[in-house]
Amino acid sequence: MNTPTLFTSLTVRGLTLRNRIVLSPMCMYSAGEDGRATDWHLAHYLARAMGGVGLLLLEATAIEPRGRISQNDLGLWSDAQIEPLARIVRLAQAEGAAIGVQLAHAGRKAWSADRAHGPEQPVAPSPIPFDDGWRRPHPLTIVEIDEIIAAWQAAAVRARTAGFDVIEIHAAHGYLNHQFLSPLANERTDEYGGSLTNRMRLLLCVVRAVRQVWPLDRPLLVRVSVTDWAAGGLTVEDLVATTRELKDSGVDLIDCSSGGIGPAAPESVGPGYQVPFAAQIRCQAKVATAAVGLITTAELADEIVRSGRADLVALGRELLRHPHWPLDAARLLNAPVDWPHQYRGARPE
Ligand SMILES: Cc1cc2nc3c(=O)[nH]c(=O)nc-3n(C[C@H](O)[C@H](O)[C@H](O)COP(=O)(O)O)c2cc1C
Repeated sequence: MNTPTLFTSLTVRGLTLRNRIVLSPMCMYSAGEDGRATDWHLAHYLARAMGGVGLLLLEATAIEPRGRISQNDLGLWSDAQIEPLARIVRLAQAEGAAIGVQLAHAGRKAWSADRAHGPEQPVAPSPIPFDDGWRRPHPLTIVEIDEIIAAWQAAAVRARTAGFDVIEIHAAHGYLNHQFLSPLANERTDEYGGSLTNRMRLLLCVVRAVRQVWPLDRPLLVRVSVTDWAAGGLTVEDLVATTRELKDSGVDLIDCSSGGIGPAAPESVGPGYQVPFAAQIRCQAKVATAAVGLITTAELADEIVRSGRADLVALGRELLRHPHWPLDAARLLNAPVDWPHQYRGARPE
């Protein structure tokens, strides 16, 4: 009997994933104000590792304090934040999961989950607030942009020290890298604004700075919003062009999400609604992709990777509901997988 594709391994650089199932990064708003991971994070991520996930991607983890989405985000802006994450890394790897961290900077959406307490003035490419009632951001100077690129690199060094297998750079959902990419948030007239080539400059600088310190045998992922869902915003074609440059700069896989630059959203969404984006980026930019968004059944997840529309499937809310989703999916698809030995007695025949 052939192993269903969902449960085949995938090797990217020096890392072999045991299956194609990813825990999609999800902010848990449970860190202290010091941005350090707690025992709660350990329990949360370890449960999904024991549940059989192939790659755990930790939630958006801020590269500097003013880049947080809330005051309870994880951070990697200081060395004191390394060890609590390293503990999670060691225990998740011992359960057979690979583990990555999503590094992030919220830009003008800083404190979007908790707007009453945000920084005095968030930063962005241009002084355009996210929406009515939001703070007007400070447009970053060239010197400040250089400082932010350096902060991305320093956070990557800390991720390396913590032992993460993967870094995912957050360039989706309307956060800082996406703000530079999208003409809806970037009205700069210098080398970081105007043409798509200029608008992708910050992201490429971040990727190159991270790749410089990230070991060559460890994969580097970027999460993008493949469309802004708004007139005048980013399109799939823009993201295909951006992805080609990202790939040339050392990115191994594109995690394909959408939206977030403004309040605009698709009229209706259904199971796997973002999968066509992952398929188009994969086919046209010739790069590995992850598909995400309303993927909840074993059949759909397996079909996505079997048909070659994506290399990985990321599940968010379904893995909050069911930490053991991968073990259940393996049973439904008749896939031979190892259960944690402590649970073997409960394994269905
Ligand atoms: C509570 C929550 C927190 C999230 N936080 C993040 C995040 O930190 N980074 C990110 O890229 N996406 C974040 N997302 C989006 C998810 O990663 C995922 O793309 C989205 O939920 C769609 O997948 P799903 O339908 O499987 O949940 C979050 C979603 C939820 C529900």
